Amino acid sequence: MTLATQSVAATQTATADIGLVGLAVMGQNLVLNLERNGFTVAVYNRTTATMEEFVAANPGRQLVAAPTLEALVASIKRPRKILIMVKAGAPVDAVIAGLAPLLEPGDLIMDGGNSYFADTERRTLELEALGLHFLGMGISGGEEGALWGPSIMPGGSAAVWADIRPMFEAIAAKAPEDGKPCVVYLGPRGAGHYVKMIHNGIEYGDMQLIAEAYDILRRALGLSAAELAEVFTDWNNGELNSFLIEITAQIFRKVDAKTGQPLVDMVLDRAAQKGTGKWTSQDAMNVGAPIPTINAAVTERILSSMKAERVVAAQHLPTSPLHDGAARQEDRAALIDAVRQALYASKISAYAQGMAMLHLASIGYDYTLDLAAIASIWRAGCIIRAQFLNRITEAYNLKPDLANLLLDPALGGAVAERLPAWRRVVQLAVGMGIPTPAFSASLAYYDSYSSARLPANLIQAQRDFFGAHTYERVDEVGNFHSEWGEE
Ligand code: 6PG
Repeated sequence: MTLATQSVAATQTATADIGLVGLAVMGQNLVLNLERNGFTVAVYNRTTATMEEFVAANPGRQLVAAPTLEALVASIKRPRKILIMVKAGAPVDAVIAGLAPLLEPGDLIMDGGNSYFADTERRTLELEALGLHFLGMGISGGEEGALWGPSIMPGGSAAVWADIRPMFEAIAAKAPEDGKPCVVYLGPRGAGHYVKMIHNGIEYGDMQLIAEAYDILRRALGLSAAELAEVFTDWNNGELNSFLIEITAQIFRKVDAKTGQPLVDMVLDRAAQKGTGKWTSQDAMNVGAPIPTINAAVTERILSSMKAERVVAAQHLPTSPLHDGAARQEDRAALIDAVRQALYASKISAYAQGMAMLHLASIGYDYTLDLAAIASIWRAGCIIRAQFLNRITEAYNLKPDLANLLLDPALGGAVAERLPAWRRVVQLAVGMGIPTPAFSASLAYYDSYSSARLPANLIQAQRDFFGAHTYERVDEVGNFHSEWGEE
């Protein structure tokens, strides 16, 4: 790739503050957000008709229609800023390959998709070698967030941040507590997309935990969708207050126009995934981070997708005889409250895992991540936004090098208070044969992390027995080997 020595169309007036490539819904809404905040946006889409329809549908807006990449580049003020909003993977490389030769040193390309962080590392190095700047920018909040204020997680070329910061602070969500914009430069190379990946891993964990709470209330207590809507609305007014709990309550209220049944009951129980949760689990193994709740969430999505096999297995494998909702009616209010507490404690455990993974990755990849800043920009705009993120932000502000959120006195104390309810709920689910892998994994993580002594001594003995891998002793420094077999 080489850069243009001269502007492609030096004669064309460059009026746009930024260019955007990729006018699917997220791209369109980001354009409208930028424009509403006073920026002129040049827009390009591979299928030109999509771009033309978008511009025609938004008359009177400060938009520049660009039918070609050349026209796009020519219409942006120098140094140029271009945000790519296309599908992760090869399409991003294709757009970059098309753009880079048209740009000049000092210009900036940003990738706002859910790109794999290692791809972002590579692209940053490649583009910086050409004298261009590159930011891998995680953007969370779905369609509404893109339009009204997403949480934005940029990483990459540090030098450009000061220049574009006002623009991205303008379009980002603002935390309700202090009005701070939910965007901050996070670190070099793939740091932004790494943080977005962990955001999505936590999102998977949160969603699975909520799904398990729903399953317990449904299977153990037989709650109807209308009753579940009430429970989740009530939960949203307390410590669980969050976007995901709020939309869950709304989901339970929705009636299917075709059947008159709650729509949620008509949805096939087969969850899809685009890969970000899987990447979190995969990289957790690389950086040595235990994230059992997120792993359980990824695994459960895979199991859910094996619908046909599960239906056959359900016909052949015995289920627990305790599957009886009516039997527990007398415990109703107490059990609903115990599930709420178990959900909150599990959530703290899951966030502790995700944040500890960020801490380890920051060291491993030299990202210099500021965990307080990360928690703070997740307080609004993104899918995992929750009141509870204020407590996490406080925990890291108090102690920036906190090894684990469970060691924060306020959060650790909150878990300790809910421990009896947490254990009761997991015991009940196990006893009734209700699968709760994320609740169980969250609790097992807590129990393992808080165990001064784990049974790994036996594992070391076994390793030394069959492979002479040696072991350490509790009473003496060094590596030891024994002949373990019978003499
Ligand atoms: C967000 C979401 C968003 C997208 C996920 C869904 O932060 O706005 O995370 O990026 O909805 O990629 O991921 P799955 O398709 O893997 O569930």
